[in-house]
Amino acid sequence: MKGFGSDNHSGVHPELLKALIECNAEHAPSYGTDNFSNAAIKSFKNLFGSQTEVFFVFNGTASNTLALRFLCDRHESILCSEVSHLNLDECGAPEFFAGKLIPLPHTNGKIKLETLEKSLIRKGDQHYSQSRVVSITQPTELGTCYSQDEIKAIADWAHSNQMYLHIDGARLTNALVELKCSFQEMTTDLGVDIISFGGTKNGLMMGEAILVLNAELAKTSKQKLKYIRKQAAQLPSKTRFIASQFNRYLQNNLYMEIARHSCSMAQKLHEGLSKIPAVKITAPRQSNAVFVIIPKEWIKILKDKYFFYVWDEKTFECRIMTSWDTKAEEVDDFIQQLQQLSKQL
Ligand SMILES: Cc1ncc(COP(=O)(O)O)c(C=O)c1O
Repeated sequence: MKGFGSDNHSGVHPELLKALIECNAEHAPSYGTDNFSNAAIKSFKNLFGSQTEVFFVFNGTASNTLALRFLCDRHESILCSEVSHLNLDECGAPEFFAGKLIPLPHTNGKIKLETLEKSLIRKGDQHYSQSRVVSITQPTELGTCYSQDEIKAIADWAHSNQMYLHIDGARLTNALVELKCSFQEMTTDLGVDIISFGGTKNGLMMGEAILVLNAELAKTSKQKLKYIRKQAAQLPSKTRFIASQFNRYLQNNLYMEIARHSCSMAQKLHEGLSKIPAVKITAPRQSNAVFVIIPKEWIKILKDKYFFYVWDEKTFECRIMTSWDTKAEEVDDFIQQLQQLSKQL
């Protein structure tokens, strides 16, 4: 059964599966000292800047948590949106390993600079966790994107307050489709310090990478983050199976091909859904998800054929998410079902 549940629900992109098979042929050194890892690191450096340090990990929660653990002490805090994955879906891992989360109000998933400014309180007060990191998600959990200007403004503000900017980039490539720029133009050039770069949601079997972009931090990461990763049991011995997927993903624009496809399927969904009067789109579509309120009695009928998540049990706002393998016919069929239901109203 296929559906619109999550890009996590889809399988492995055939090209990435091929990359896994290729690196399965022979023996290779372990713990990231193999040629596949070197090649993937080189690809990341080409796309994000030569100063970038890369740390492969198994999953997104670790990627976020260990990046934050590297940036802040236990008595410090991380400013993030109240709907961030960090805050709602990581079972307290960032607070267990890194610092206190300060969840902030959002607009369509994004934190405004004024909100950050208001939240920077009690500096130097020993009774209060001291703010050290701003963490934003790009694209956000509500499928919207920060513009380059917004990212730069947040980075500048963070730095002027002796703080760092972290991006949860579980689906970072999708934001390139919206912003029409390169990875470097969206991150390094704007002053982003560190990224949790996602692979799993973009067609990999599994695997994520922490990218340290800030040149000073990149130097220290070699003495600090590498031990943090091992202590947290996130150093994969057969790193090559993560690295070879990333290497193929970043070659010949495959990353853009995958992102363009899933975003175009979401756009098709968005167009179809916006023509159905009984449903209400709740956030701008700037990634591979559409957020929409669907009449309660339709949800079970629709979900029998195409699974999706009810995001808000009170309002029946649903998240309809596409993936690298979503087919145009599936989108058309889903929209047709909604049209049928609306005729019965
Ligand atoms: C925005 C975002 N960040 C981080 C993660 C964490 O990924 P994982 O489930 O691999 O820990 C997810 C997973 O859904 C996510 O959507």
